[in-house]
Amino acid sequence: MGQSSSTLPGGTRSWTLVNRKEAKMGVLLEVNDLVVDFPAASGVFHAVDGVSFSVAAGERVGIVGESGSGKSLTVQAIMRLVSSPGVISSGVVRFDDEDVLSFGTRTLQRWRGHQVAMIFQDPMSSLNPLMRIGLQITESLETHLGIKRSDARKRAVELLRQVGITDAEARMNDFPGAFSGGMRQRVCIAIATACAPRLLIADEPTTALDVTVQAQVLDVLDTMVSESDTGVILISHDLGVISNFCDRILVMYAGRIVEQGSAAQIVGSPQHPYTRALLRSILKLADPIPERLRTIAGAPLLAGRRPAGCAFAPRCPMAVEECHTTDPALVPLLGENETRGVACGVVAPAAFQAVESPKGVNTL
Ligand SMILES: Nc1ncnc2c1ncn2[C@@H]1O[C@H](COP(=O)(O)OP(=O)(O)OP(=O)(O)O)[C@@H](O)[C@H]1O
Ligand SMILES: [Mg+2]
Repeated sequence: MGQSSSTLPGGTRSWTLVNRKEAKMGVLLEVNDLVVDFPAASGVFHAVDGVSFSVAAGERVGIVGESGSGKSLTVQAIMRLVSSPGVISSGVVRFDDEDVLSFGTRTLQRWRGHQVAMIFQDPMSSLNPLMRIGLQITESLETHLGIKRSDARKRAVELLRQVGITDAEARMNDFPGAFSGGMRQRVCIAIATACAPRLLIADEPTTALDVTVQAQVLDVLDTMVSESDTGVILISHDLGVISNFCDRILVMYAGRIVEQGSAAQIVGSPQHPYTRALLRSILKLADPIPERLRTIAGAPLLAGRRPAGCAFAPRCPMAVEECHTTDPALVPLLGENETRGVACGVVAPAAFQAVESPKGVNTL
């Protein structure tokens, strides 16, 4: 097992992180050098700026980062849901080795319903308030799996029971408004998992819920995916939530992955000053972290204002002169395993040396 490399359009050699599970189970999703642009006064703004990662069957990958770091746009691009004026201007998204960015409308619809499902922050955005819960689940089962209504109904009741809804048979007739926020999110999990998708993307599924309900909903999600080989991408701005649920974590800042590793590595030995700051906001670390990083000083990058060097440098207490002029690449951390990478020239000098191809792509 090791690094695998492939040639991207334009001759760039990408460095893909491979972990044990992928080697064993095969890569389900592969994202390479993905760029999502918005028009800006200065020309274009790379809201997602060269993101590369993969998800194996059964693997749980977390994406964490402050508001505006490009988490949602990354998964929206994977799902081909970026809306105008945003565009996917380059990159590769492969699912089961098929080129998602070239799918036609019908293939895309089939793929979305059957192979990949999404759970959003606000359950009401995916539930129809005027339609009974039972019908919303059975419709999905009938459309995507082609099973007949009576069987779909039985399966829907079973799904509602599995996500912990008591008196499921009777609740099938309720409208979404009759459910609490946490219960609605359980219904969304039931709908999302109804067709046994191979990849489940959850974008801040618990942010709108109180802490106790958050934990319950994540438990339900855990139960629903742990008995299958479903790959999961879980997005949150809360490293605590992500580290409890995920095998591997990608830390995003200003549209790029600035650190990645196993959940244990990211929480146990965060390397990027930004990751340390995120962690500091939830934990008291043993090693000394500059006081002003306890809450992340300064504001996240504004659209269209990427500085010349590292985008985090203006907020970073560890920044040296070169950080303001040289854009660090995501490089493997020497001596660690292949899942581990950081884009900081202070903690990994190689990040400054791999400057021809920054944006999360490594040329080592
Ligand atoms: N419709 C839009 N028009 C212009 N810029 C946009 C638009 N949508 C997103 N962006 C830009 O893309 C950046 C990333 O947005 P994204 O929604 O992916 O952030 P996020 O990490 O999911 O944040 P949050 O935690 O708030 O959900 C934003 O900071 C913004 O600059
Ligand atoms: Mg978001």
